[in-house]
Amino acid sequence: MTKTELLYTGKAKTMYATDDPDVLWVEYMDQATALNGKKKVQIPGKGALNRQISSLLFEELNANGFATHYLKTLDDTTMLVKKCAMIPLEAVVRNFASGSFERKFHAAHLQPLVPAVHEFYYKSDALDDPFINDEQIVALGYADKATLVAIHAMSDAVNGYLKARFAQIGIDLVDFKLEFGRLADGTLVLADELSPDNFRLVDEVSGRSLDKDVFRKDQGPLQPVYQTVLDRLKGAQHV
Ligand code: ADP
Ligand code: TMP
Repeated sequence: MTKTELLYTGKAKTMYATDDPDVLWVEYMDQATALNGKKKVQIPGKGALNRQISSLLFEELNANGFATHYLKTLDDTTMLVKKCAMIPLEAVVRNFASGSFERKFHAAHLQPLVPAVHEFYYKSDALDDPFINDEQIVALGYADKATLVAIHAMSDAVNGYLKARFAQIGIDLVDFKLEFGRLADGTLVLADELSPDNFRLVDEVSGRSLDKDVFRKDQGPLQPVYQTVLDRLKGAQHV
């Protein structure tokens, strides 16, 4: 498999076409961004860590019957995925109040949210990824109702798996963002990335953040924090 044309340079990954029209070549970059790209730095090793954490979690989800885009890992920073027509939504799931939810409702930090809160954001850098509700999504043609129902069910199932997986290694899964796409045959799959760039993770004992909040809030170096997440996941492989 070889990469051919550069398709897209994002904030965290670079996407290339390959000699197989159904397969994309994904390179994880060392770049970290916050505030929709307004804060941007290079963090050596971040790309490799996010690729490793993503590969590990996608492999587990595939093995547990979840439909994902993940195919295989090529090297430290590169994986192959099934090419999708992406649904332009960020599907956020929250188990505890934090981030924008905490700010919006003045909720107590890490207040448990039962049932888990599902939110959609419209993926648009120009519009700063605004919140969007189900009717707005359908009316604007970004997805139909059946797709939203399927995304809700898949997000819940992924939440169940990941919550238990992180609890096993002493970490609370506070919230996370997923992206979904459709394969050429129409199958809905979990796509993009599964890493601490898109999860909020809190150590159950120390209460420390183990995710990109460390960068967002200038709490110190990010690389050792992501390394801790990877080491713990590897130390307690799924049985
Ligand atoms: P952003 O676009 O937010 O800056 P990235 O740097 O992570 O994010 O770029 C990766 C891009 O690739 C995102 O736009 C994402 O929606 C898209 N993508 C992820 N997985 C796939 C896939 N399997 N097929 C096509 N596009 C994908
Ligand atoms: P929020 O509290 O800022 O709305 O974020 C909720 C979750 O979604 C958190 O785990 C971070 C993740 N997220 C992304 O992955 N990308 C984004 O663009 C945003 C805004 C949040």
